[in-house]
Amino acid sequence: SLKTVVLGTGSYLPERVVTNDDLSKIVETSDEWIVQRTGIRERHIAAEGETTGDLAVAAAMQAMEAAGVTAADIDLVILATSTPDNTFPSTATQVQARLGITRGAAFDLQAVCSGFVYALTTADSMLQTGVATRALVIGSETFSRIVDWTDRTTCVLFGDGAGAFVVEARADADNPEGRGVVSCHLRSDGRHKDKLYVDGGPSSTGTVGHLRMEGREVYKFAVAAVTDVIEDAFAATGESAETIDWFVPHQANRRIIEGSARKLGIAPEKTVLTVDRHGNTSAASIPLAVDTAVRDGRIREGHMVLLEAMGGGFTWGAVLVRW
Ligand code: ACO
Repeated sequence: SLKTVVLGTGSYLPERVVTNDDLSKIVETSDEWIVQRTGIRERHIAAEGETTGDLAVAAAMQAMEAAGVTAADIDLVILATSTPDNTFPSTATQVQARLGITRGAAFDLQAVCSGFVYALTTADSMLQTGVATRALVIGSETFSRIVDWTDRTTCVLFGDGAGAFVVEARADADNPEGRGVVSCHLRSDGRHKDKLYVDGGPSSTGTVGHLRMEGREVYKFAVAAVTDVIEDAFAATGESAETIDWFVPHQANRRIIEGSARKLGIAPEKTVLTVDRHGNTSAASIPLAVDTAVRDGRIREGHMVLLEAMGGGFTWGAVLVRW
């Protein structure tokens, strides 16, 4: 059989850093309120004219360099985003072109904050069935463009950024260590639309719209949903809070992350936290956090890594990877 092995990771954050104090000049808020409720201290915001595609290209180039591959080696690009450059064509095809990739397929995938977990699961399926052999899986977002900057209950939560994995289909004979994606678990329940959505779009209003959220409702659902799908992942694989080396959750809110980890019995030192410096970057948050932990030497070959996310839809899911 074939396993989906991670060859390299990369990430990119826009230059401009916006602190909580900076935000307190735009809306009535404070560093103390934001840190206490969310753990967020600062976030990066894209420059005028800097797009999701630009961020994605930078992250992808870094991932390809880390993986030691060139454009000719890639035959699949999946870009998870809810903030594409254009309604069409997909941002993925434009990233493909800018990277000089001329074969295979490229498409966008939209599952909001669960986008990267959905994209990695999709890539894993396509590599295992021989549809493609080497893929770029990217999460890239510019939520600053859809946030309502007059709404203090949401605008303080989000940031812009991108992260990417290069993954390769590897036969068991070439993979004695058993590296690669172990198990994928996706869930969605569309009945929860009203709790987290954008109030616009091409077919409804003809406008881009703004993000709307009932934060407390999302919070309540998040901890329960995330622990439930991780328990399914543990049950399916025999892995557990004790056997995993790293827990890399979607970075929405420090309290959601710590609440889920506590319920699952995952030790705090196994949790990778970047929400303090990145804010919630939606589909980009997991590959950004993974790349941070790979580059600072925490995540290493052989480690068992648990990725998990929950977002609009609602959508949620978990992926276990032997690094
Ligand atoms: N600064 C100061 N005060 C604020 C701010 C702010 N930025 N935002 C809200 N408040 C006020 C509210 O107006 C309210 O005031 P009131 O009591 O006078 O009415 C008070 O603070 C409490 O508001 P709540 O919404 O009840 O605060 P809560 O403790 O629930 O925290 C938060 C809000 C942080 C949004 C929390 O509900 C949360 O984290 N929810 C999950 C949201 C999330 O992570 N979403 C993303 C996940 S899915 C995805 O990633 C797309």
